Amino acid sequence: MVVQVAETSGISQDSFEHFWSLRGEWVEEPNVRRGGESGVQRITGRHGELLYAKRQTGHIYRSALHPFGRPTVLREQDALVALTRLDVHVPRLVFCGAQRDPVHQWRALLVTQALEGFEEIEHWYAGGGRERHGEAVHDQLLQALAENLARMHRGRWQHGCLYIKHVFVRVTGEGAMAKVEVALLDFEKCRQRLTARRAASHDMKQLRRHSSFSDVDWKKLVYFHETAFGSAIKGL
Ligand SMILES: Nc1ncnc2c1ncn2[C@@H]1O[C@H](COP(=O)(O)OP(=O)(O)O)[C@@H](O)[C@H]1O
Ligand SMILES: [Mg+2]
Repeated sequence: MVVQVAETSGISQDSFEHFWSLRGEWVEEPNVRRGGESGVQRITGRHGELLYAKRQTGHIYRSALHPFGRPTVLREQDALVALTRLDVHVPRLVFCGAQRDPVHQWRALLVTQALEGFEEIEHWYAGGGRERHGEAVHDQLLQALAENLARMHRGRWQHGCLYIKHVFVRVTGEGAMAKVEVALLDFEKCRQRLTARRAASHDMKQLRRHSSFSDVDWKKLVYFHETAFGSAIKGL
C-alpha cells in the first residue's frame, strides 16, 4: 500500500514515479542523517531543461505539529512557496512529493529548476568576478544579497542554514549596464520565527561565521540589510 501524502498541486499522480525514476549525476552524494538518507542529483526534464532533484528516504524532522516526523522536503516546499511570494529569489519549484509505504518508510522528492547562469558566490570571487566587474558592481552584489535576506526576514522566515555555499550570483552586462542578481538555496531548515528580528539575528550571525567576507564588506552588507530590514540587529 502506498500512501500519497503530499504533492505539488496541479501535477498528476504519476509524477512521483516519473521523477523518482529519473537518474543523473550526484551533486551531493546521499548523506545519512535525520533517520534516513538525502542526496541531490542533476537531472533532465521533459523538454531538455536542467533540474535538480533532492531524493530522500526516511529523512524526517519532528516538531510540535509533526511529532511523528515529516519529510524535510515538505518543509522546504513550504518555504519555497512562501519566499517566492515575498519576492525572495529562490529556485522555481517543479515538483515536490512524499510517499510512505510499510517497507520503504518515506520516499520524498523535491525538484527545482536549475538557477540558469548562476554560480556559487565563492566561485564568482575565485574566478575573478570582482576584479573583472569592479567595486560598483560588487557593491550592487552585496546590496542584492542584503535585500533578498531582508525580504525573507521581514516575513519572519529564518533560512536556518545560511552558509556561503547557499548564496548564488549572476552578473549580466558590463559596467554601468551590469545587472546583478542573487539567489538563495537549500531551505530544508527554513522556518518562521515569532519575530522578524529573531530570524534576521540568527541568519546574519550564521552567515558571518560561515563566510569569509572582509570586515569592510561585512559592514557594507550589514548596512544594506539594516536599511532594507528597517532596523539594526544587535551584535553583528
Ligand atoms: N535549483 C538549483 N540550481 C542550481 N544549483 C542547485 C539547485 N538546487 C541545488 N543545487 C546545488 O546542489 C547543492 C545541494 O543542494 P541543497 O539544496 O543544498 O541540498 P542539501 O540539502 O543536500 O545540502 C547546492 O549547494 C547547489 O550547489
Ligand atoms: Mg545544502
